[in-house]
Amino acid sequence: MKKILVTGALGQIGSELVVALRQGYGVDNVVASDVKMPAARHGDGPFAYVDCTNLGQIREAVRRYEIDTIFHLAALLSAVAEERPQVAWNVNMGGLYRVLEVARESRAAVFFPSSIGAFGPSTPPDSTPQDTTQRPTTMYGVTKVAGELLCDYYAQRFRVDARGVRFPGIISHVVVPGGGTTDYAVDIFYQALRYRHYTCFLEPDTRLDMMYMPDALRAAIEVMEADAEKLAHRNAFNVTAMNLTPDELAAEIRKHIPDFVIDYDVDAVRQAIADSWPNSLDDSAARSEWGWSPTYDIETMTADMLEKLSRKLHLD
Ligand code: SER
Repeated sequence: MKKILVTGALGQIGSELVVALRQGYGVDNVVASDVKMPAARHGDGPFAYVDCTNLGQIREAVRRYEIDTIFHLAALLSAVAEERPQVAWNVNMGGLYRVLEVARESRAAVFFPSSIGAFGPSTPPDSTPQDTTQRPTTMYGVTKVAGELLCDYYAQRFRVDARGVRFPGIISHVVVPGGGTTDYAVDIFYQALRYRHYTCFLEPDTRLDMMYMPDALRAAIEVMEADAEKLAHRNAFNVTAMNLTPDELAAEIRKHIPDFVIDYDVDAVRQAIADSWPNSLDDSAARSEWGWSPTYDIETMTADMLEKLSRKLHLD
């Protein structure tokens, strides 16, 4: 990776991945792109306006900056994709297809983030294996499974170095996620610090895998840096760091904020999405093929989130 383009660079993951990549590869070698213009200057590095449903705009950015690696993050998350499935298909699939086409033309590598959403109710829910049944019941999941397959196809047919991971819910404090089912695990920290109270849209015992952003950034970068010879899967690696329910996360927060109260007002759509996803993933393929190992667990993540967010919200 020498010259990198990040799509969806203003989103939850992109806004932090750009910073991490610039630290590793140099500010001028990482081009941030999005369909929104950054409110302020996006760090000090280059920014390109790129709508991923527009092949010409992707091609122009790749040629202009001589890009050799694309981190393709632009996508609709699960809940908003369920509200607007046609738009989700267009953006998630149309965007990936065009990114892969430009990668084929320019011999660029591609990182594609798949998700726990690529699984469905017929998937074994506990310690979900790397290779297993994938029959998701959401449009988000349909685009993630199809995206995994399309990446494999471009790798086999056109030798595009397309790699990726299946992320669990990502917890972070810089940019809030927009329209996901796991968003509660971010919202809860803001509300706990501001109001000592959070009303959760998932049931108390809804168990899902999660990961703190620093680990998610490492996963994305490390899978792209991995020795290709050692990768049996290459794409769609299960990765996880912790496993929790809203009730358990609230209990962990209460260790720091004893009067924190959680109550529940369940959103049927997001509950149904969460219920269709695994309780926990087996990430042993990522561990053995490219040395994946998370740093943060629920205790260290919660302590760090509360400290960083207090500072951000000027509550310390
Ligand atoms: N965090 C995503 C969502 O909830 C799952 O990949 O949509």
